[in-house]
Amino acid sequence: MNIGIDKLSFYVPNLYLDMTDLANARDTDPMKFHVGIGQDQMAVNPVSQDIITFGANAAAAILSQADKEQIDMVIVGTESGYDSSKASAVIIHHLLDIQPFARSFEIKEACYGATAAIKMATDYVRSHPERKVLVVASDLSRYGLHSDGEPTQGAGAVALLISKDPRVLVLEDDSVFFTNDIYDFWRPVYEEFPLVDGPLSNETYLQSFATVWAQHKQQTGLTLEDYAALCFHIPYTKIGKKALLSIAEETDEKTLERLMAQYEESITYSRRVGNLYTGSLYLGLISLLENSSSLEAGSKIGLFSYGSGAVSEFFSGYLVEGYQNQLHSVEHQELLDNRKQLSIEDYENVFSESLPNDGQSVSFADPVPYSIEKAENHIRYYRTDN
Ligand code: CAA
Repeated sequence: MNIGIDKLSFYVPNLYLDMTDLANARDTDPMKFHVGIGQDQMAVNPVSQDIITFGANAAAAILSQADKEQIDMVIVGTESGYDSSKASAVIIHHLLDIQPFARSFEIKEACYGATAAIKMATDYVRSHPERKVLVVASDLSRYGLHSDGEPTQGAGAVALLISKDPRVLVLEDDSVFFTNDIYDFWRPVYEEFPLVDGPLSNETYLQSFATVWAQHKQQTGLTLEDYAALCFHIPYTKIGKKALLSIAEETDEKTLERLMAQYEESITYSRRVGNLYTGSLYLGLISLLENSSSLEAGSKIGLFSYGSGAVSEFFSGYLVEGYQNQLHSVEHQELLDNRKQLSIEDYENVFSESLPNDGQSVSFADPVPYSIEKAENHIRYYRTDN
């Protein structure tokens, strides 16, 4: 039975900062951000939006009424939950009006969470072929003003519908996964921002890729020539390029050129959004599918997922005939183009805003379809479009 991604879409909040403005404000050469890090713009979230509204907006764009009746599980991969007990998936399930006899829960392992969710979803569909699973990857990637990680922030969500006979990507049962207990990036519950060892995180990302790639090659016999494209977790776009170049000597110049060209297509959206944490790999996949003109039915795509701490996985899939009909290129382009650019002063103000943590009431009139309407008595109330 073929199981995989039937539909997918992303949502990012409607504010952004240009990286040249950030560089100038931080007394840094803009080329360091645009070329050295590989980021041009960074999504910024207003206080009236959160991981739940990002996820609901991303998923609402792809779900039909029939899907909502067939979904048995809503799984949210996130490392930015604002509640240590109640799962964001329960609220997303409610906002989207999904049939009530469903399981809704959150999965956490840094930026790896959504991959774990997808794998759990495919296993579920294998034993319940008529049912579907909604996977949402939603995060606020925040390191703090003036921090080393500031140019690698971002915000947003990706929603993926997993089903049998998927219309976009059939997922192969070929995963190689790897766990390595380290402290490269972590966030104790009392910390607002993550604690990060930047150089160690880069090093572990690249080592993890080398490990799962080599093991995958050994287990499957597949080599670089077999792939139409490789997608990577993209905390910032330069690092995936480094990972791909680290195995360059395994192939010929023509194959490398082809894979590098596809990599550029996979980072088009991330260059304008920044890090989505657990959604980043899948934003890269959407970017590849919507921007590349040389993919076709049967094209094999390799995916590298990395979550600090650290868990990584390499797996693959192949494109389905007519996959282009399931994409939302025009809407996604509009979403990115219609955002409002912030000045540095406005960015710093928006970034520093937070909801009351003493139960006081606050209301908003954010026009996006799903947004926070009110926070009161430690509960967030959401505006829906239904
Ligand atoms: N023009 C062009 N390039 C320039 C430049 C200039 N004027 N000035 C510097 N550069 C280049 C540097 O040479 C360097 O390139 P290489 O990596 O190819 O050597 C690059 O810009 C970055 O420079 P630095 O290493 O000096 O940058 P930094 O010290 O400011 O730190 C960072 C960069 C480690 C990514 C930091 O932003 C950070 O800590 N980010 C958060 C952690 C992170 O994203 N880690 C990634 C792996 S972990 C993960 O994947 C999970 C996750 O999502 C968080």
